[in-house]
Amino acid sequence: MPKLVLASTNKGKIEELRELLTDLPYELVGLTDYPGISEIEEDGNTFAENALIKARFVADHTGELTLADDSGLEVDALNREPGVYSARYGQPGWSDRDRYLFLLERLQGVSLEERTARFRSALALVDPRNHRIEQVDGTVEGVVLDSPRGEHGFGYDPVFFILELGKTMAELTGEEKNRFSHRGRAVQKMIPLLKEL
Ligand code: IMP
Repeated sequence: MPKLVLASTNKGKIEELRELLTDLPYELVGLTDYPGISEIEEDGNTFAENALIKARFVADHTGELTLADDSGLEVDALNREPGVYSARYGQPGWSDRDRYLFLLERLQGVSLEERTARFRSALALVDPRNHRIEQVDGTVEGVVLDSPRGEHGFGYDPVFFILELGKTMAELTGEEKNRFSHRGRAVQKMIPLLKEL
């Protein structure tokens, strides 16, 4: 089976991508299989730019078909912060929990109606054999609650509430999250492209 490298070291993300891509005829491998690959500098201004930077870098270094996701949370009341800085929001070394508590602090005093937000995922696929590039994206709309709920998922999931489901992202099962999430929606668009390679 041909390899498909998932260009991420984020455990939550890799788990979701593995679930979403499980039926495809590819051997899915993570970056942990390529310890020589150093930290990738994500200096793009958009999720799409960063996804392409990661996918290109890993495809160049491995010579394998590579899929990268760049994603994050945009909060309207904070001028779309943390956005591309979602993984680095606040202080270096902080846990996911530290970061969402910091977000809640920044939103203190903001009413629920004004706490609208969305998760975005940009996916980039790079085939180093023919330099083919494919890019798709997905979003999910919601609001940021004022306290965490739920035990599943990762990152900002416990504070992101999806109105149509009446649950936070961390209250969804893995299967439900993959059906409704930004990443799940982006992957659904990428699957036909992966099948046609
Ligand atoms: P990246 O690995 O540079 O794309 O950073 C993505 C960051 O955005 C993660 O570290 C999380 O903080 C946040 N994020 C992305 N997707 C999700 C998700 O599905 N749930 C919760 N947080 C997410």
